[in-house]
Amino acid sequence: MGTDKDTKINLFDTYKNKQEILIRRCTLDDLDGVIDVNERELPEDYPYFFYKSILDDYPESFLVAQNKNGKIVGYVMWRVEKAPSFDGLKYENKGHLVSIAVSEDYRRKGIAFELLSNSMSAIKKYRIKNYVLEVRVSNYSAIKLYEKFNFKTKGIKKNYYRDGENAYFMVREVK
Ligand code: ACO
Ligand code: ZN
Repeated sequence: MGTDKDTKINLFDTYKNKQEILIRRCTLDDLDGVIDVNERELPEDYPYFFYKSILDDYPESFLVAQNKNGKIVGYVMWRVEKAPSFDGLKYENKGHLVSIAVSEDYRRKGIAFELLSNSMSAIKKYRIKNYVLEVRVSNYSAIKLYEKFNFKTKGIKKNYYRDGENAYFMVREVK
C-alpha cells in the first residue's frame, strides 16, 4: 500500500505554506483525525471501514492537511467510478470527489485549494474523463471553491441528502 509517512511528507514538502500547514498523503494513523474533522464540519458521516477502503483503493488522492503540531485540520478523498459517458454511448472512468473539509479555524487560508489541486492531479492517473461531485445547493463556500476549479453545474439531484436538501451535480472535464 506504500503508506510510509516520511516518504509522503517529502513528496508534498513543496506545498508547505506560511501557516506551516503540511499537505501530504493520508496514512492509516491519520484516519481518526480525518473522521474527527468530518464529524465536526459535515453532516455526512461515514463508518471507519468506508474511509479505510478509500485509503486502500485510492491512497494517492487521499490527502490530509496537518498543522504544526501534527493535528489533522483538513482532508480530501476521491474514488474512481466506471459510469456511462454523458452521451450514453460508452463507459468511462470518472473521478468522484467523495468528501473535502477544513476545520473552521483554518478556513480561508487556501488549504482546500491545495488539497483539491494536488488530489485532482493524483486521481487523474486513473485515466478519468471527468471530475464529478455533488454539493448542497446551500453550500455557498464549497460551490465557490469548485467554480474556482472550473467545475460547472450539470444538474440538480433532488432530495439527495438525508434531510431532503437538493444537490448540484458539478462536473469538470479532464484535459
Ligand atoms: N465564501 C466565498 N468563497 C469561498 C469561501 C467562502 N466562505 N470559502 C472558500 N471559498 C472559495 C473562494 O473562491 C476561495 O478562494 P479565495 O480565498 O481566493 O477567494 C477558494 O474557495 C479557496 O478557498 P480555501 O481557503 O482554499 O478554502 P477553505 O480551506 O476555507 O475550505 C471548504 C473550503 C472545504 C468548502 C470549507 O469551507 C469547509 O470545510 N466547509 C465545510 C465542509 C464542506 O462543506 N465541504 C464540502 C462538501 S461537498 C463535498 O465534499 C463533495
Ligand atoms: Zn458524491
